[in-house]
Amino acid sequence: MIAPHGGKLVDRVLKGEERRKALERAQALPRIVLDRELAFEVENIATGVFSPLEGFLGKEDLDSVLARGRLADDLPWTIPIVLDVSREQARLVGDEVALHYRGQPVALLRVQETYSYDKEEMARGVYGTTSEEHPGVRRVRAMGEVLLGGTVDLLVPVPSPFPRYKLSPKETRVLFEMKGWRTVVGFQTRNVPHIGHEYVQKTALTFVDGLFINPVIGRKKPGDFKDEVIVVAYESLIEHYYLRDTAVMAILQMEMRYAGPREAIHHAVVRKNFGCTHFIVGRDHAGVGDFYHPYAAQEIFEDYPDIGIVPLFFRSFFYCKKCSGVMNEKICPHGQEHRVDFSGTRLRRMFQEGGRYQEEFPLIRPEVEEVLREHPDPFVR
Ligand code: ADX
Repeated sequence: MIAPHGGKLVDRVLKGEERRKALERAQALPRIVLDRELAFEVENIATGVFSPLEGFLGKEDLDSVLARGRLADDLPWTIPIVLDVSREQARLVGDEVALHYRGQPVALLRVQETYSYDKEEMARGVYGTTSEEHPGVRRVRAMGEVLLGGTVDLLVPVPSPFPRYKLSPKETRVLFEMKGWRTVVGFQTRNVPHIGHEYVQKTALTFVDGLFINPVIGRKKPGDFKDEVIVVAYESLIEHYYLRDTAVMAILQMEMRYAGPREAIHHAVVRKNFGCTHFIVGRDHAGVGDFYHPYAAQEIFEDYPDIGIVPLFFRSFFYCKKCSGVMNEKICPHGQEHRVDFSGTRLRRMFQEGGRYQEEFPLIRPEVEEVLREHPDPFVR
């Protein structure tokens, strides 16, 4: 089994007596109320999804992540995992605080640092831009002014919209072992699957033992597909188009940041923690608009020879009328005029314009189309 990032799978989920005492202590502590995305981050830290992080980043690590895409100890890390609060909240905080979500304490934070940061620097570091057009930049601008760094201990699981599909890295590692998979390719997605996604996955699967389909569940930008549509669409695709015991799906409760290349590294590290040996990076991975070059998310891996998971790069898949099949830019010599492109953007546009997917060459499988058509409103508003 592949080693987790940094060598050790973090487990900060309190159990038994320790948990009981911590729950009791939590009642008397100052509290910080988390939104859903922060609650997800807390759980991701505690269950090892973000190994080797044991808590929210302190200043030294944050500066290092922003400046060079590595933690202070040099380990690849590209996305700041930080807890932001307002100045007023920061004043109330002592050595320990209870993190509340949906009316109950879900974790304890041992506050090791309280510090301010520069939002423009954070935006530039993570997204490579300070443009208001970028959804990630807008998120940074809306953050609290102060960051709290320190370790977290989870008291109770964070409620999930899809409990059936929620697996921790500990669990996926057991699952992969039970299936006898020595090599597993991770697939990140925020979309309903089109034929391009399927070909990327199946091309990778041809060379490894198993496929780990891992849709991101959490905050997404307006116009993206809703989480429940993505999950049901994949259930349908797996049922009708995958061999049994070659593909499994589990969700990753984490917001999309649309940070392109930097997010691709983060996505790969997280999948390594789940036990994947390989990770798919296709066209415009985690991109938004024209902010990143379509293959920037592949090129960035050159800076991370020590990442410890094998990235599998794919050029864009499309249908070529001349080849009469699904091809990609690396293997098909025919021009754009012969191609039918697969992309999430095209899928959304066709759906909004009431277009049909099954003409000429299908953009999505009919079973997946049915899921879309049955949903009263499949898009995030
Ligand atoms: S992402 O924001 O999560 O990257 P999406 O769910 O559309 O968006 O993509 C999931 C993965 O499939 C990414 O690695 C992406 O680069 C890849 N991908 C999507 N469409 C294509 C395509 N037509 N050809 C090749 N790779 C693709």
